[in-house]
Parts: sequence; C-alpha cells; structure tokens
Amino acid sequence: MGKRVLVKFSGEALASENGYGIDTSILKFIASEIKSLVENEIEVGLVVGGGNIIRGVSAAKEGIIKRSSGDYMGMLATVINAVALQEALEYNGIKVRVQSAIKMEEICEPFIVRRAIRHLEKGRVVIFAAGTGNPFFTTDTAATLRAIEIGAQMIIKATKVDGVYDKDPNKFADAKKLDRLTYEDAMNDNIRVMDDTAIALAKDNSLPIVVCNMFEKGNLLNIINGDFSKASIVTNS
Ligand code: GTP
Repeated sequence: MGKRVLVKFSGEALASENGYGIDTSILKFIASEIKSLVENEIEVGLVVGGGNIIRGVSAAKEGIIKRSSGDYMGMLATVINAVALQEALEYNGIKVRVQSAIKMEEICEPFIVRRAIRHLEKGRVVIFAAGTGNPFFTTDTAATLRAIEIGAQMIIKATKVDGVYDKDPNKFADAKKLDRLTYEDAMNDNIRVMDDTAIALAKDNSLPIVVCNMFEKGNLLNIINGDFSKASIVTNS
C-alpha cells in the first residue's frame, strides 16, 4: 500500500484577518500544498473544523441554545468549509469528493468508508465533513476516527503553530518546542494536543499524531517523507 494520511485543518485557520468567514487566498494555499501531496502519490483524506463559522460550545454558552444543537450547528459549519475546500482543490486540478457524516445528498456524498477508500485508491482526495455526525465530539476526534477507518499512517493536525510547546509560546518567551511526545504527555493539561477522546482513540490504535504549522510551505510533504524538524510527533515511544 502507498502512503495514506489524514490532514486536519482547523476552521479558524481558513478565516480572513477578522477571524470570520473563508479567505480564498488561504484556500488557494491549502490547495497547492495538498496538490503537492497528490502529485507525490500520497493518498489524502481531509477533515476541516468549523470554528471560523460557529462553535458548538460557544453557541451554547448563554444557555439558550442547547449544547447538542450548538454542536449540530458546528457540524453544518464544517460542511460549508468542506464544500469551499472542495472547490479550491478542484480549481487546482485535484480530483476530490466530499462525504458527510450527516446525510445531505443534494450537497455531497454520504460517508461510506469503503467508498472513501476506493476514492483514495483512485487518487481522489476525500474530505470528511460533519464531524462524526454526533454532538459532544470534536472535529479532532472525527479526524482521528476517519484516519483509523481509512487506515492512514498518521494524522497531521495542521495548525497556526510550529508544533507542541511546554507552555504557550505567545505568552512565555522561554516556551520550548517538544519534538516527540507520548500519548500521555499529549493529554497533559498544559499541552493538550487534542481533546482526550481524540488522543485516547489514537493511542488505542497506535496512530501517530503530528502537529505542524500549516502555513509553512512544503512542510506537509516533508513530514510525510519523514522530516519532522518543523513539527511535533506523538507516538507510543
Ligand atoms: P466511481 O464510482 O469510482 O467512478 O466514483 P465517482 O464518485 O466518480 O462516481 P459516482 O457516480 O458515484 O459519483 C459521480 C459524482 O457524483 C461525484 O462527483 C460524486 O461526488 C457525486 N455523488 C455521488 N453520490 C452523491 C450523493 O449522494 N450526493 C451528491 N451530492 N453527490 C454525489
């Protein structure tokens, strides 16, 4: 089997400078990075968050919108981002399919894992939308779940930071980047690479989690080729 990865982008990273909506120049950048993976015969699954549009937890903060409804609103937000990303990839000449965990067949395919794998085998990028389809789960958990289901060799969490630090690098000048972590380290409250559910799922299935800066050109390809110098990796050892 060739290389297969799942890349998770945060919704927030798609936002323009005001922190809201979708910035097409960011979409273009992501599309060119993904294109370089496809050109190198890497099979790519994508998950994108929805934080640039709405977050379940924040929507429910005042107690008017129930948390579960807020989470469903967030899942819909990920579909909006997935469709935008689909267009940007296709505009760049990449074959792509969107599959949603919640059926909305006028917009995209339903999630069917065996079909997703066929798409990947045919060189198509598959974007998994609507999270896990359930409230109370994050898109990080959805991304980890999909990574395991499609048999990805790693999940890459593409963020706005270079990797994982021992403390917040925006607040502490002496914050140190951690190159390698165990799953237990990753669950530490100060670090929290992902939520505990996602990390536990990755740990149970020995799925490496790589955290990197999505805006570092060429980094995704380097990581997949084994160069983790501009990333942090979470594994068993
Ligand atoms: P192959 O069977 O490998 O050829 O895959 P394919 O995805 O090209 O074939 P299919 O005929 O299943 O799909 C053709 C197009 O319709 C693709 O762009 C799919 O994403 C899209 N499509 C397939 N099923 C659905 C669906 O349930 N809803 C929506 N909106 N589009 C779909």
